[in-house]
Amino acid sequence: MCGIVGYIGDRQAAPILLDGLSKLEYRGYDSAGIAVFDGSSINMTKAKGRLKVLEELTHDGETLPGKMGIGHTRWATHGEPSNTNAHPHLNKTESIAVVHNGIIENYLKLKKKLINKGYEFVSDTDTEVIAHLLDYYYDGNPLRAITKVMHRMEGSYALGIIFKDFPDELYAVRKDSPLIVGHTKDGCIIASDVPAVLKYTRDVYFIENEEIVRMEKDAMEFFNVDEEQIEKESTHIEWDVDAAEKGGYEHFMLKEMYEQPKAITDTFSPRLKGSEIVIDELNMTDEEIQAIRKIMIVACGSAYHAGVTGKYVFEGMARIPVEVDLASEFRYRDPIMEEGTLVIVISQSGETADSLAALRESKERGAKVLGIVNVVGSSIAREADNVMYTWAGPEIAVATTKAYSSQLIALYLLAIKFGKVKGVVSKEQVYSYIEDLKRLPEQVEMLLNNKVKIQKFANRYLAAHEVFFIGRGIDYAISMEGSLKLKEISYIHSEAYAAGELKHGTISLIEEGTLVAAVLTQKELYKKMISNMVEVSTRGAFVLAVTNEGNDEVERAADYVIYIPETNKFFANSLAIIPLQLFSYYISVGRGCDVDKPRNLAKSVTVE
Ligand code: F6R
Repeated sequence: MCGIVGYIGDRQAAPILLDGLSKLEYRGYDSAGIAVFDGSSINMTKAKGRLKVLEELTHDGETLPGKMGIGHTRWATHGEPSNTNAHPHLNKTESIAVVHNGIIENYLKLKKKLINKGYEFVSDTDTEVIAHLLDYYYDGNPLRAITKVMHRMEGSYALGIIFKDFPDELYAVRKDSPLIVGHTKDGCIIASDVPAVLKYTRDVYFIENEEIVRMEKDAMEFFNVDEEQIEKESTHIEWDVDAAEKGGYEHFMLKEMYEQPKAITDTFSPRLKGSEIVIDELNMTDEEIQAIRKIMIVACGSAYHAGVTGKYVFEGMARIPVEVDLASEFRYRDPIMEEGTLVIVISQSGETADSLAALRESKERGAKVLGIVNVVGSSIAREADNVMYTWAGPEIAVATTKAYSSQLIALYLLAIKFGKVKGVVSKEQVYSYIEDLKRLPEQVEMLLNNKVKIQKFANRYLAAHEVFFIGRGIDYAISMEGSLKLKEISYIHSEAYAAGELKHGTISLIEEGTLVAAVLTQKELYKKMISNMVEVSTRGAFVLAVTNEGNDEVERAADYVIYIPETNKFFANSLAIIPLQLFSYYISVGRGCDVDKPRNLAKSVTVE
């Protein structure tokens, strides 16, 4: 996810571009840049870091005079965050400038072709290919060059384009990445999302796939990929800026929960090649995978909980022994790393100090470290021997949802791959796991759409003092995450317990009306779980059960049941977590808590 803006009109472009980017920073914030045409040349400033750095460098846009320009705020996908990889990107003669949101899937093939034609590349991005390809096809007709490039590119894109030869025209085009355009009082504006334009107009055109826009300061024309002019209707936007930034959702957390189907798809689909799982970035030969004797997963908080699920998945599916450690504890226990140990460090931010320290400790002890990281170019991504990115996009809410869900997917992919290479997962099983993976996004969406039922239930427990989450096996892992979600955003004390362990102490805390959330997704453990539920309900607990469709027997031990769709036993966490996230969210909202920024917490914990 990145954000793009563009402006052409009577006013100075740079301040408008910077202002628009400030409303799109939620879409990415590892670097930013703007290019402005001053009447004779395209001038550009780009900077790694938050938009603030670019604002300072350009003196709030003063150093880049001109009335037409494009801007970009980046969330790195190809190439680490750096000044060079920041957008805009130019062709060699600096006569074409491009900003891009999306991913060009066939960029390596196109890059090779362009290099053979003598083009030189300065960045590691897929976007630079677009600038050179436009140059290659440009014969004095910008529209033609754009359509030719569209025919060659595979993937997703929303582009803002300036041609120096056409100082009074600004171009934009999209496929599978959002793009809106609108008339302002004194010009035309483009952006990835509504918040960036609301200050200037409330009437916008939503650009559809493969539509192109040509703007002059007082005119706008739309074309299809055959260069035929098309008509479009504008839409009036009612939202205020704050709501618009959250896509109409009340909180970033809710928005990010709803982005989970996409985060899941984006994390698995680039790694599915037909009926095989291909994880290029693993950089491990089959022999090296076969030589793995033990996996050590190290992480903090929710990432640690993803790791606990990972333990059950790697052990159950790929038959590889796994130890899971809290990163803050790891190095102080003098961990034993024999030959054949693979350390996996999981982190959304890639900057968590404890996780980074654990990574360094592991490397010092000679282990190979794989990072599962969301933020491209972050410290953990850079220092790990290999990095497997989760493609969840920027996560703004402090409480993680979509990054956690995509971490689970990365772990499933690795387990299937390792299991296959080790010969304990058959070709048929791989096929069946892939089919289950492909079904997950839709199943998650279905659970999200059940939110009203969960909201109603949550409203009954707004005054709860404590909540217990119980589960066995992999469901214990999900109980831990459910419990953390609740306590961190609602400030209600909660505990996760391995259900069989309750009777060894915790059951003394159960009294009349205590809420116990029981997770039962593992068929072979249904009976045992139901016994544990009966244990607490006979002591007065109100039991909420999260279980698979068809497990009707649970109703005899539960007061309220939320059913999740069927998947294989290893992937059930990806579904069971959804109602628990929604439950925590609605409790937090109902109690009037600051959902996106809970007290005492920070999104990225860079102190040990
Ligand atoms: C909880 C949460 C935290 C993080 C933890 C690790 O909702 O977000 O527990 O999971 O601080 O952070 P990362 O994944 O950035 O290393």
